[in-house]
Amino acid sequence: MRKHLFLYLFIFPLIFSCKSQAQNDNIINSDFAFADKQLTYAISEIEKAIANEPVNEKERREKRKQGPLVSPRSIDENGNLIMVTSRDWTSGFFPGELWYMYEYTQDEKWKTLAQEFTVPIEQEKTNGITHDMGFKVYCSFGNGYRLTKDEQYKDVLLQSAYTLITRYKPNAKIIRSWDHNKDKWQSPVIIDNMMNLELLFWAFKESKDSLFYNIAVNHATTTMKNHFRDDYSSYHVVDYDTITGNVLAKHTHQGYSHQSAWARGQAWAVYGYTMCYRETGKSEFLEQAKHVANYIFTHPNLPQDLIPYWDYDAPEIPNEPRDVSAATVTASALYELSLYDKENSGKYLNWANTIIDNLSNNYLAKEGNDRGFLLLHSTGSKPGKFEVDKPLSYADYYFLEALLRKQKLEQSKPLF
Ligand code: GLY
Repeated sequence: MRKHLFLYLFIFPLIFSCKSQAQNDNIINSDFAFADKQLTYAISEIEKAIANEPVNEKERREKRKQGPLVSPRSIDENGNLIMVTSRDWTSGFFPGELWYMYEYTQDEKWKTLAQEFTVPIEQEKTNGITHDMGFKVYCSFGNGYRLTKDEQYKDVLLQSAYTLITRYKPNAKIIRSWDHNKDKWQSPVIIDNMMNLELLFWAFKESKDSLFYNIAVNHATTTMKNHFRDDYSSYHVVDYDTITGNVLAKHTHQGYSHQSAWARGQAWAVYGYTMCYRETGKSEFLEQAKHVANYIFTHPNLPQDLIPYWDYDAPEIPNEPRDVSAATVTASALYELSLYDKENSGKYLNWANTIIDNLSNNYLAKEGNDRGFLLLHSTGSKPGKFEVDKPLSYADYYFLEALLRKQKLEQSKPLF
């Protein structure tokens, strides 16, 4: 009897924990081994797509008024690779993926490729007509600087941060997101904008200029006040009067309706507030991240595999497309959140690991197919009728980030 008790109490748990550690290592290894092959294939697809551009320089410029095509974004209805110029909000994700490959493999091949794909994003550092600076520059140059400490990268990042804060509206205490749809909105802020604050927190630490910190905190605080419903779901777009600071409208752009919960918006929110807590230690940001996570994972329309439909209120659920990008952003955020909310860390890890397991088992692209993307079944904009049930570069970027965070946690290494 005593022998049995000993087995149950000490030996079996040890065997199971070793097994689950080995399984976890396997999933991280096998996902990165897949990414190694698939991203090598992606590079050849990118070269082909660029080579098929018109050779005549005038014609090329006409076709691409904004400059050369630099990064892959998705696949179109005919199966062609969609490439974007540096101005597109997604231009930084592919270079970021290459930096994550370098971080995991330590293989110089990936470093050289990452550098090559990062360089063309530099011109964005002075582009003040959009809020997407963090996505574009922090995912590319930010990861590059973190891993190489290249001083030139630092200069690009600082200049980008100064450009981003030119969009700050002091009376409303927000950074304006978009300049389009001027007939609809005066100064719109989208929940996605929380992600761009990471660049400002970085710039504060590097430059000691508290302007960056104050603007980031003000934006996050105003967003917390105005972007959320009582159940902690987030609106997509909130429009501000920049003189009075009053809220003019609460809308959606990529969600099902103004009152619905667009899946990727909830993911940006949980990631954004977790990151803001890391950078400020302000408990209200941690509370907000916890509330949004609970909203997501207690939602009756969240499928059992934890990969959400594109909107939690989409009318035809369960016959609606999924959004894998929302799942990868959320998984990455949950690994970080598990560090700060110790009481619930097991729950967050369980959710994140379930997402990673299910993506790895059921959502990966086929090797040598799908133009080199890693994951299928994301949704860019269902109302806009584009990138519905397609691969997306940002789904892949946050997948690799989540895998790296998972590995660091399991090896008790710091995430940052
Ligand atoms: N930031 C744009 C999007 O999430 O689609």
